[in-house]
Amino acid sequence: MHLHRFEKIWLYLGGTTLLVFLTIIGISAFYYGNQPPSCLATINTDKIDVTPPFNQPGVHKIKDGEYEVSIVVAAFAFFPNKVTVPKGSIVHFSVVTKDVVHGFEIAGTNVNMLVEPGYISAYTQKFNKAGEYLILCNEYCGMGHHMMHARIEVVEA
Ligand code: CUA
Repeated sequence: MHLHRFEKIWLYLGGTTLLVFLTIIGISAFYYGNQPPSCLATINTDKIDVTPPFNQPGVHKIKDGEYEVSIVVAAFAFFPNKVTVPKGSIVHFSVVTKDVVHGFEIAGTNVNMLVEPGYISAYTQKFNKAGEYLILCNEYCGMGHHMMHARIEVVEA
């Protein structure tokens, strides 16, 4: 089969681009362990109130500088609606919903998750700057959607 010179160049470019992208994705996934937010952890929606850590939502200290924050979402509020962590903390968020799909976005950070019934949404974020961060529901969930917000206060350690 005869290929025109330009076709060959085009094929090489296409093939090389594909290889470069697959290599980058491979290194990112398998070497650095980057993954989409968890969709593997499940929870029985009817038993959230008796399932740790969601039976006592809030801030739990793991060790110095590292915290777990568990939050229960239900129309139309976050429980608790205010958490406080020291500056420089690594915070592991886990969020569940008692009813419909909600959003969990922390304005000004990379934290932006869907919270789906039956699943635990998890994300880890480091807070290097003191101040107040707004948590928003960014998924339309009903009449009170626009009122759904909470706060994270990052205080000087
Ligand atoms: Cu909850 Cu919108």
